[in-house]
Amino acid sequence: MSMKDIDIDSVNLKMEPLKSEPERQTWFMAKCRQYTEDFERKKGRRPTFFIQTFGCQMNAKDSEKLAGILIQIGYVEAEDESADFVLYNTCTVRENANLRVYGRLGQLKHKKKKNPDMLITLCGCMMQEQAVLEKIKTSYRHVDIVFGTHNVFKLAELLATRLESGGQIIDIWEGTEKIVENLPSQRKHSFKAGVNIMYGCNNFCSYCIVPYVRGRERSRDPKDILMECERLASEGVVEIMLLGQNVNSYGKNLENPITFARLLREVEKVEGIKRIRFMTSHPKDLSDELIEVMRDSKKICRHLHLPVQSGSSRLLKDMNRRYTKEQYLALVDKLRQAMPDISLTTDIIVGYPGETREDHEETMDVVRQVRYDSAFTFIYSKRSGTPAAGRSDQVPEAVVKERFDALLALVQEIAMERTSIHEGKTMEVLVEEVNAQDNTLVTGRLSNNILVHFPGEASMIGKFYDVKLKECKGFYYYGEAVK
Ligand code: 5AD
Ligand code: SF4
Repeated sequence: MSMKDIDIDSVNLKMEPLKSEPERQTWFMAKCRQYTEDFERKKGRRPTFFIQTFGCQMNAKDSEKLAGILIQIGYVEAEDESADFVLYNTCTVRENANLRVYGRLGQLKHKKKKNPDMLITLCGCMMQEQAVLEKIKTSYRHVDIVFGTHNVFKLAELLATRLESGGQIIDIWEGTEKIVENLPSQRKHSFKAGVNIMYGCNNFCSYCIVPYVRGRERSRDPKDILMECERLASEGVVEIMLLGQNVNSYGKNLENPITFARLLREVEKVEGIKRIRFMTSHPKDLSDELIEVMRDSKKICRHLHLPVQSGSSRLLKDMNRRYTKEQYLALVDKLRQAMPDISLTTDIIVGYPGETREDHEETMDVVRQVRYDSAFTFIYSKRSGTPAAGRSDQVPEAVVKERFDALLALVQEIAMERTSIHEGKTMEVLVEEVNAQDNTLVTGRLSNNILVHFPGEASMIGKFYDVKLKECKGFYYYGEAVK
C-alpha cells in the first residue's frame, strides 16, 4: 500500500471538503470510514469488497487503485460476489466482454435480494458508452454506482453520495485533462507493479473503441512517474510494467516534451528495479532511439509486444494504422538485428470488414516471416460509433471462423517452435507464485516472458533464480534451479 501522502485521521469532517485533489478524496474517505465503523459496530465485522476486472492491464491497474481506496475506507477484501460491495471494472473492446458483464449483473440481482445492504458498482470503458448507460438506467436498477474511465479517483466521493442519497449514482465524464496523483493503491503482487505513464489514445484505428472511451492522450509528468517507481522499489518491487495505450508517443504533449526512450533511460536508473517491461507499442511510433535504449539496457526485458493487426497493406490503410506490411517487416528486421534474442508478440484481427482471401494470406505470410513467440488472435467485433462498424462489407461468420482457425493453428505451431529453442539453456527466472496445480513447484517468468515451472516454495516468490530449462511443454518449461 502506498499511502505516504494520505492521512485520513487528520481530516476534520466538520469542515467542508476541499475542491483540490487528492485532498477532497481524503475527506470523503474519512467520511466513508464512519460508515464502515458503523457497519462494524452493528454487525460485528468489517464490510467486504470484491472487484472483478475485465480487459487489459490498464483496467487491472485501475482496479488496484479502487481496492486501495476501499481498504483505506475500512473494507476488507472478499473472495467472491458474496461481498457487501461488488465492483465490475468493465471492458468494451470486443462485444463479448459486454455480454459477460450483463450476465453477471443478472446473477447479482438475486444476491442483492438476499442482502439488501449490498452495493453494486460498475466502472470502466463500457460505462463510457451512451447505449450501455441507458440500458443500466432502465433494466439494471439494482446497480448503485456507475462511473467511467476518467474519474476512478472519485470512488470515495461517489460512495459517500450513494450512502446519503440512496438512489442510483451515475457520474460519467466525457473526457478530462486532469491527472490526479497520490491516491492509495493496493498492489496485487509484492514484487511487480504496473505504472501508468499515459492515458488515452489519439490513433483512432478504424475498428477500435478505445479512443472514444478512454479519451485523448495525456502523459504523466516524468517526475511523478519516477517518484512512483522509486517508491515501489523502496517497497520491494523488482519488476515494473510501464503502461499506456501507445507508449511510443509518450511525452509528446507535455509542457517539456520528452521521448519514451528518454523516460526509459531514467527509469533504468532507479535502484532496486531489476526488470522493466512496457505495453503497448504502436509500430508507427517506434523510434530508433527506443531500439538503441532497449539494446543497451540491462533491465529492459527482451520482449516487445508489437500489434500488427493485419498483414495486408490495403487493410492496414483502411484500419488507419499508418504503416504497410513492408514497413512493419523492416521494423522487425531492425529490432532483430539490434537484439537477436528479442521475443516478439502481437495482436491480429481476423474478419475485418472487406477482408478477402488474399488479405488473409498476407496476414498468414507476415506470421510466417516474423515467427512470433506468441500472438493474440481476435475475431473482428463491430463496435458502434467506430468508422468500421458502418461498413456494409462485413465478412460472413463461417468464413471468419475458417480463417481464424487457420491463423490460430499457424501461430501456435510457430510459437511452440520458438519456445522450444531455449531447451537446455540456463536462464534467469523471477518467481511469481506457487504453482496452482502442484504446490511442490513454483512458477515464474523469463525476461522474454516465457513461463517456467520448477521445484520450489512460497518463500521464493519475488526472487530471481538461474533455472535450467529441462523440458519444453509447448508454450512453457519445466526446469530446475541451479543455485
Ligand atoms: N474487434 C476485434 N479486436 C479488436 N481489438 C481492438 N478493437 C477490436 C475490435 N473491434 C484488438 C486489437 C488490439 C487489441 C487490444 O484488441 O488487436 O490490439
Ligand atoms: Fe485502439 Fe489503435 Fe489506440 Fe490501440 S492504437 S488503443 S488499437 S485506436
